[in-house]
Amino acid sequence: MLVGLLACGSKAERLPVRPAPAIEVLPDVAFADLDRDQRIELMKTHVIPTLTPVFQRHDPTKFSVVDCKTCHAERNWQMPNAELPQLDVSDLGEFDARDVEWMKNEIVPAMRKVLRDPELRCGRCHPLRGS
Ligand code: HEC
Ligand code: HEC
Repeated sequence: MLVGLLACGSKAERLPVRPAPAIEVLPDVAFADLDRDQRIELMKTHVIPTLTPVFQRHDPTKFSVVDCKTCHAERNWQMPNAELPQLDVSDLGEFDARDVEWMKNEIVPAMRKVLRDPELRCGRCHPLRGS
């Protein structure tokens, strides 16, 4: 990537002096506008590296490995993932409040940012029940 930029010669010299991100192969658009290969690429290069510390800070043992299967069912990329805990967002009392706060304050904001989607909510990952 960097080599490609430098090869542009004079054009590259006019680029703003800003350190290039290590990996930046994706267009600057919302997740919904990416094609399938780009979605997978974004998951690998952005979602995993960004979300891994957010899971591990919460529970380093349970999330010692964060990979595609942390969020997705086996061989199924469709979201919401039916294998994640089902939520009634109007009554989350059955869950540990610490988990709920972590999801609200850390996972959702991180995921909104990385997918460039301010509308993302719990139901993007979890199946929902109730009202
Ligand atoms: C932190 C949770 C998380 C992890 C880890 C994760 N994904 Fe995703 N993935 C999502 C969410 C949420 C969506 C749905 C985004 C949307 O539709 O807005 C998604 C969507 C996708 C899609 C698009 C599905 C569709 O219907 O278009 C693919 C493909 C995908 N993920 C592949 C992967 C791969 C491959 C990995 C591992 C390299 C991975 N994901 C890791 C949360 C995750
Ligand atoms: C990016 C996907 C994603 C989003 C968005 C998300 N979650 Fe989660 N959530 C997960 C994953 C992955 C786990 C870990 C599941 C596991 O293996 O136990 C989890 C775990 C939880 C747990 C712990 C369940 C248990 O008892 O083990 C609760 C509670 C929870 N989520 C609630 C929420 C709430 C409430 C929201 C919205 C504010 C939300 N989640 C948004 C992916 C997501």
